[in-house]
Amino acid sequence: MTASNSILADQLKRPIRDLRISVIDRCNFRCVYCMPKSVFNSSYEFISREDLLSFEEIRRSAELFSRLGVRKLRLTGGEPLIRPNLEDLIRDLNQLPLIEDICLTTNAALLTRARADSLKQAGLQRINISLDALDDATFMKINDVRFPVQRVLDGIDNARAAGLPNLKVNMVVQKGINEHSILPMARYFHDSGHVLRFIEFMDVGQSNDWQLDQVVSSQDIVEMINAEMPIEAMGAKVPGEVAKRWRYRDGRGEIGLISSVTQPFCRDCNRIRLSANGKLHTCLFATHGHDLRSRLRSGADDAALSEFLKAIWEKRGDRYSELRSEKTRSLKKIEMSYIGG
Ligand code: GTP
Ligand code: 5AD
Ligand code: SF4
Ligand code: SF4
Repeated sequence: MTASNSILADQLKRPIRDLRISVIDRCNFRCVYCMPKSVFNSSYEFISREDLLSFEEIRRSAELFSRLGVRKLRLTGGEPLIRPNLEDLIRDLNQLPLIEDICLTTNAALLTRARADSLKQAGLQRINISLDALDDATFMKINDVRFPVQRVLDGIDNARAAGLPNLKVNMVVQKGINEHSILPMARYFHDSGHVLRFIEFMDVGQSNDWQLDQVVSSQDIVEMINAEMPIEAMGAKVPGEVAKRWRYRDGRGEIGLISSVTQPFCRDCNRIRLSANGKLHTCLFATHGHDLRSRLRSGADDAALSEFLKAIWEKRGDRYSELRSEKTRSLKKIEMSYIGG
C-alpha cells in the first residue's frame, strides 16, 4: 500500500484527515458535564489494562490511517497524561512520515514544567488545555475534585515555557454554572498569546443530563465580549476546523467559538475517533464502534486492515449535530470520557 491510493471519501464526500486517539478512559477530574460522580464512581467499569491498545497497536493504526489521508493526530482521554509513559507513544508517532501535527488535549493537572519539557522533547507539537472558570468556587464545583484554578494556570505557563506554542484554552460554557466566567476568562487570556475557545455545552453521552436550555449560544458569547472588547470575524485557517475564529480589533489576540449546537460543522467533518480499547467511531455522537483491536490482535496484515478502515470511512454518513432532534437525542450515545471529545 502506498500514499498514492489515498483519495478516500465518505458518503458526504468528506476526506479523512484527523485521528483522535483516546489513550485512557480514566480521569483525575469528575467534571459534572462529563464524568459525574453519580455515574463514574467505584462501581464504574473502566477499560482494563489488557484491553487498552498497546502503544505499538496505536502506532500501527495511526500509520495505516496516515496512508488513507490522516495528517493530524490528537491524543485525548479521559485524561491522557495519566496513561503511563505517554512520551514513548508520542516518540513513536513522531516517526510517521505522513503525520504533520501531533497534539494533546489535557486538563493540565499533571502538566508540571518537567512533564511539559518531556512531552515537547518527545515530539508533541501542540497542546489544548481545558479550563472552565477563573475562580476556585466555580471551577471546583465543575471539576468536583477540589482542583484549584492556579494549578491549571501554572500548567498553561509550563507548556509555554517548554516551547509549546499556539496553545488553546477550552472553556465549556453552561448556563447558570459558569456563564459569569465568560468575561473574566476573556479578559485574562486577551493579550496572553493563547487562544481562548468557548464551547457550547453538548449532548454527548448518557450521563450529563443535557438540556437545550443549559446551552449559552456562541452568538450570545460574541455579543457579550464584543460589548466590552470589540472583536471581528476571521476566516478559517484549516478546512474542517471546529472553531470559528474572531480577533480583537485592538490586534491583541483572538478567540474561538465551538458551536456544535447552534451552528453545526458536520459538513466538513474529517475526524475519526479511536477509543482506548480499539473501537473506531465515525462521529462524536456515535452509538457504536467498529472493533479494530480484535483485527489487530488476530494477526491481520496491513492490506486487510487497510481495507477494513477504508470500508468504514466509505460508508460513513454521520452528521449528528446537523440532525440533532428529539429522536437522535434519545439514542444510546457513547460517553465523552470514552470517546475523547
Ligand atoms: P484544534 O486542532 O486545536 O482545533 O483542536 P480541536 O478543536 O480539534 O480539539 P479539542 O480536543 O481541543 O476539542 C475542542 C472541543 O471541540 C471539544 O469539546 C470537542 O469535543 C469538540 N469537538 C472536536 N471535534 C468535534 C467534532 O467533530 N464534532 C463535535 N460536535 N465537536 C467536536
Ligand atoms: N460539551 C462540550 N464540551 C465537552 N467537553 C467534555 N464534555 C463536553 C460536553 N458535554 C470538552 C472538555 C475538553 C474537550 C476535549 O471536550 O472540556 O475541553
Ligand atoms: Fe476529565 Fe476532561 Fe472529562 Fe473533565 S472534561 S472529567 S477533565 S475528561
Ligand atoms: Fe463530525 Fe459527528 Fe461532530 Fe458532526 S457531530 S462534526 S459528524 S463528529
